[in-house]
Amino acid sequence: METIIGTDLDAAKAVLEADDVCAIPTETVYGLAGNAFSDDAVLKIFNVKQRPSFDPLIVHVGAIDRVAELVRDLPKSAIQLMDAFWPGPLTIVLPKASCIPDLVTSGLDTVGIRMPDHKLTLKLLSSLRFPLAAPSANPFGYISPTTAMHVRDQLNGLIPYILDGGPSRVGVESTIVGFEEGQCTVYRLGGLTLEEISQVVGKVQLQIHSGSDPKAPGMMLSHYAPRKKVLLSTVPVLASHLKGKRVAALVFDAETDSDDAVIREVLSDSGNMEEAARNLFAALRRLDNSDADVIVVTPVPDIGLGKAINDRLRRAAATH
Ligand code: TXA
Ligand code: MG
Repeated sequence: METIIGTDLDAAKAVLEADDVCAIPTETVYGLAGNAFSDDAVLKIFNVKQRPSFDPLIVHVGAIDRVAELVRDLPKSAIQLMDAFWPGPLTIVLPKASCIPDLVTSGLDTVGIRMPDHKLTLKLLSSLRFPLAAPSANPFGYISPTTAMHVRDQLNGLIPYILDGGPSRVGVESTIVGFEEGQCTVYRLGGLTLEEISQVVGKVQLQIHSGSDPKAPGMMLSHYAPRKKVLLSTVPVLASHLKGKRVAALVFDAETDSDDAVIREVLSDSGNMEEAARNLFAALRRLDNSDADVIVVTPVPDIGLGKAINDRLRRAAATH
């Protein structure tokens, strides 16, 4: 199968209406999309990604009023969050209606739903009679794609079409929240900050998993992992241990010391957190494709979006 990259909405629509899968751009990362109501399409997503069937998919809608038919209950706080942040990098976990196949939710009684903030994909969604189930468009466990080329690098020949919407504007996945006994609970840190969420629903509780947990299996500790060995530290600290090794360094800003590195990626020269998030996954990919022996990543300031970036860095380093 030849994988075509293009901006043809009709082509993407035809693929999806035939219960096949295609890559779609979103503001967070590219998704691997299929008809969320179709077992065939959902199975294809799991197969192409080599994703374990116990890891549930997020369902994407083109409008807030499409949520009611997908859920059994819609708490007031969920509606407030949608009104405040959709379209945007926020996934809301709600009790699922029976129209959502168990395959999508890995047998869970809840479904994660979001409205992505990308013009092309919103147009596509509004032209379809069904919502789109879509995980990030990377092989399971690898770094998420933020450009159409990233998707093609890994899924070439496996999917018929990649809808090219340019580089993802946010660069890290959506923040995932649910409600536990009425209390807003964050399961995954992401493109929407805790502060922004708190401004709408008040205090939130964190339930960020690092083990393999059925509630948020995407939160398995070894995730977003390059093929190369990744160490989380600062280059100066590690230099003595890494003698003779070619070190690639991923650093936050121009100030961060990385003199011992043979290759260096600066997430944001000026230390801008949004820019750093936007560059994160592409920079990690470049280092993974370099001829360095080991990648050393340095934590960024743990504030705002920095929390989501540090979460990804920890997980990238965790497998090794
Ligand atoms: O930004 C994003 O969210 C991207 C774009 C494509 O929308 N999607 C994405 O999907 O990151 P994925 O499959 O890589 O991560 C989905 C994660 C699952 O691994 C799981 O942790 C969580 O969402 N999830 C999905 N359904 C859930 C549910 N019912 N309860 C708890 N967590 C759920
Ligand atoms: Mg993913």
